[in-house]
Amino acid sequence: MTTKTNRSLGLVAAAAILTALSTPAAFADSAGATFSTGDKFSQKTGDALYANLCQACHMEKGEGAVGAGKYPALAKNANLESAGYPIYVILHGQKGMPPVGQMLDDEQVAAVVNYVRTHFGNDYKDAATAQDVKDAR
Ligand code: HEC
Repeated sequence: MTTKTNRSLGLVAAAAILTALSTPAAFADSAGATFSTGDKFSQKTGDALYANLCQACHMEKGEGAVGAGKYPALAKNANLESAGYPIYVILHGQKGMPPVGQMLDDEQVAAVVNYVRTHFGNDYKDAATAQDVKDAR
């Protein structure tokens, strides 16, 4: 445990937050998740990124969870209508959600945003691009 407070959230700290914030049930559900040993996630596709990074909190079908914290459902979520919103939340975090986009490159953020916007009952077909993500960092 570090005694100094880092101004910018380090990648290691982000990973620790992921663990600390997730309910035990969430982690039991995602026992197969493999966190990359390096600072960055290696998965490239939206479904693989979702399974390894988002599912621990937002659940397998995007249904969300209420336990130690409240994890909003991404399923049938009208807040996903504008791609800019999930991009922003992933890059910068929001309340209980850490800025997990710091562990992803622009293509990966776009891929996972496009995945959640076209799955779980969401049908937003205007794809986000890596450039959109770059502009929002
Ligand atoms: C450590 C747990 C955690 C992880 C991992 C996580 N989230 Fe979240 N997420 C949250 C919480 C908690 C909120 C609610 C934040 C708030 O109160 O505004 C949230 C909010 C969101 C929202 C906003 C929902 C809304 O209706 O306003 C989106 C979109 C989202 N997350 C997408 C993702 C995606 C995509 C990933 C994977 C790249 C991800 N999250 C990973 C915990 C997490």
